Amino acid sequence: MALLGSKSHQLLSKIATSDKHGENSPYFDGWKAYDMNPFHPSENPHGVIQMGLAENQLCFDLIEEWIKNNPQASICTPEGVHKFRDIANFQDYHGLPEFRSAMANFMSKVRGGRVKFDPSRILMSGGATGANELIIFCLANPGDAFLVPTPFYPAFLRDLCWRTGLQLIPVHCESSNNFKITRPALEAAYNKAKENNINVKGLIITNPSNPLGTILDKETLKSLVSFINERNIHLVCDEIYAATVFSSPSYVSVSEVIQEMESCNRDLIHIIYSLSKDMGFPGLRVGIVYSFNDEVVSQGRRMSSFGLVSSQTQYMLASMLSDDRFVEKFLAESKRRLAKRHNIFSKVLEEVNIARFPSNAGLFCWMNLKSLLKEQTFENEMVLWRVIINEVKLNVSPGSSFNCSEPGWFRVCFANMDDETVEVALGRIRAFIGKETKKPAAMQVKRWQRNLQLSFSSSRRFDESVMLSPHMMSPHSPIPQSPLVKAT
Ligand SMILES: Cc1ncc(COP(=O)(O)O)c(C=O)c1O
Repeated sequence: MALLGSKSHQLLSKIATSDKHGENSPYFDGWKAYDMNPFHPSENPHGVIQMGLAENQLCFDLIEEWIKNNPQASICTPEGVHKFRDIANFQDYHGLPEFRSAMANFMSKVRGGRVKFDPSRILMSGGATGANELIIFCLANPGDAFLVPTPFYPAFLRDLCWRTGLQLIPVHCESSNNFKITRPALEAAYNKAKENNINVKGLIITNPSNPLGTILDKETLKSLVSFINERNIHLVCDEIYAATVFSSPSYVSVSEVIQEMESCNRDLIHIIYSLSKDMGFPGLRVGIVYSFNDEVVSQGRRMSSFGLVSSQTQYMLASMLSDDRFVEKFLAESKRRLAKRHNIFSKVLEEVNIARFPSNAGLFCWMNLKSLLKEQTFENEMVLWRVIINEVKLNVSPGSSFNCSEPGWFRVCFANMDDETVEVALGRIRAFIGKETKKPAAMQVKRWQRNLQLSFSSSRRFDESVMLSPHMMSPHSPIPQSPLVKAT
């Protein structure tokens, strides 16, 4: 049952058939290539390695150990089944009180204990995806706009705009200035929107940044808070990578900054959080809106009925996240393992003379491959990207999908695979860059131009009958569900 024909479109709503979900981007080709030919160390050693997925799979052993040691935390074990009826029947959109307390406690621990969070301000949602949409539904009318510094998480277009009717106005940040969010860039974007009679309702930032893997310093955060205060617009801070900061300087949350600022209207400040990255639970769909605005808390709470976290999940996490010893050990070990992975990647990039944007957070590196572009254009970025997928067999993400203002940047994820796969991926990077940089530029280009299209072998040509793997349908992937998913 395909929903693609224009006749079917007439039967459906404008929202359902709009292309604002971003699935038609050429970027999606990379996911097709991966899905048709996924790497497996023994069964498919020449397959495509997925490096486009910002998942944190490095600490599952610690979680599994905790689950084994705490069978009473689940309602599906002999030790916990006595709570089954209560929990299965629980449906209050305030959430289990113990879950909200545990989340508040965890959020505080992740931010070094320097801020306390009030459990009564926590709103539940289906991951940060749902939380981001929820906050926009609370703050903006269709046609209103939010400013967003570039480069930014590609699915913001889907999450913030598709169903709400919001517009995003890019605030252009440049590599020459370390992608800093400057006051002049903010003012330029804001003033241009005003000249075009666009009602700017706020600014959204990700801190730590996806895709840069950097954190904002206190001074920048203060200047952003002042900027939005002067204009009486909102500041939404997506802090879902807060616990991935693996080396100094340490993380500063907006919640900490507003504690120190004398004049700040807290009603304008909202935090988005989830356990998808910091704990590595994207499948559990635990998202949070934490608003300092009472009205947003009460209106948003009613709206949260559309995306509650399952009570079974709340129940288990209430136990896990209030186990202080476990949480402290987990957070420390997770940082240690992320730092180790990041170092392994950085060393190889250094070895082959590939510049990487200096970072200390996140699940990815932001690589600078400008030197491999024939000309500094986004068309050439796509050419190179297709070579990387087709020949090197790595699915990395091109900067253009993050709305980066300069061609040549690529995001490469490093925490969604095991050590063995890392070695293969790094070997391929070494071989490719080594080979390419030894060639005269003209030869590199010639070969790349032959690769303008993704090549699929005739026996495995992609068509609508191909079933897509669960990974392709991941809501936290930059490109969400395929429109081509076949109904079963
Ligand atoms: C900045 C940012 N916000 C939100 C999300 C969505 O997260 P979730 O899986 O919790 O919906 C992602 C996922 O990659 C992200 O990078």
